[in-house]
Amino acid sequence: MLVRLAIKQRGADVSNSYLPWAYFDRRFVPVSEARLPVGCHAVQYGQGVFAGIRGYLDQDGSTINVFRLPDHFKRFVQSASIIKVTPPGPPEALAEILVELTRRNAPAGDVYYRPFAYDEGEGLGPSLSGSGFAIYMLPVGDLTPQNGLAVMVSSWRRVTDNAIPARGKISGAYVNSALVREDARVSGFDDAIVLNERGKVAEASVANLMIVRGGTLITPAVTGDILEGITRRSLLLLARDMGVPIEEREVDRTELYVADEIFLCGTGAQFAPVVSVDRRTVGTGEPGPISAALRRRFMDIVRGREPQYAGWLTRVPAAAARDAGQPAAHSERVTQSAGA
Ligand SMILES: Cc1ncc(COP(=O)(O)O)c(C=O)c1O
Repeated sequence: MLVRLAIKQRGADVSNSYLPWAYFDRRFVPVSEARLPVGCHAVQYGQGVFAGIRGYLDQDGSTINVFRLPDHFKRFVQSASIIKVTPPGPPEALAEILVELTRRNAPAGDVYYRPFAYDEGEGLGPSLSGSGFAIYMLPVGDLTPQNGLAVMVSSWRRVTDNAIPARGKISGAYVNSALVREDARVSGFDDAIVLNERGKVAEASVANLMIVRGGTLITPAVTGDILEGITRRSLLLLARDMGVPIEEREVDRTELYVADEIFLCGTGAQFAPVVSVDRRTVGTGEPGPISAALRRRFMDIVRGREPQYAGWLTRVPAAAARDAGQPAAHSERVTQSAGA
């Protein structure tokens, strides 16, 4: 059956708990104290930018491998500059805060980090400024099924560079992602692929997209109203290193119907093969060989099994490497919206 009935819930409600410490207002605080005023621009107008970063438990069981931390914060600072928000330091300083937060929370397994830079101003009417900054973190597993998604092409269009730039990970722009995801959910699909205003394939609701045609890995260019994904860039490098030809170019909607393989990629989605688009089977209906090889390599890297790519990992001690005396996990439950 091409349309999967199982996945119709709102996001992946995995009922995780925030880890006990957050960074907020220039201090480490219990996560319950990281709260914003209802009238601030970040809340009222979506004037914030965020990052989603994963930390993977290394194969040694005692280290968290934070994936491409400097690159995430570099994009984060660039995103913030688009909306004139000034984080409290350069990418290196923000990375240090995240590492210290990891030490304090000492997670026992895989984690997801949410840095947020925002306009804390409360004046009536939108205007661009702000210097708010926070990070919180939570344990995480797979947010998107990794064994084959049934997707549709959305009737919504991706936000354009001259409206709200998809290049910046801007909070308000995720209303667009929510419209796309909801459309898919109520129609019985796992996710949707969204076209840009030129009618070309942009990306999925909260992930980049790649297709394989005739052995070439193809993905929309960074000028196609997409988020410039860190996972996307990593997979392109991996593919090149594995001798797979790559193309970054415009992708037509109907190329999705004739592709040999398709997958979504991103920090949340990780590496999610697509097995049907608009109820047309992709390739054999099973994840294809190039997707499978890339996925295997990627997972080996994040677990610390590929020394060649060790430079992509920032290694921080996990709970197993710490003395006893951890703060107890905070009991607040959250509903995760998968994968942004
Ligand atoms: C809209 C969108 N596109 C693409 C991505 C993938 O980007 P990254 O690989 O940097 O996580 C994300 C986030 O995961 C996203 O929210």
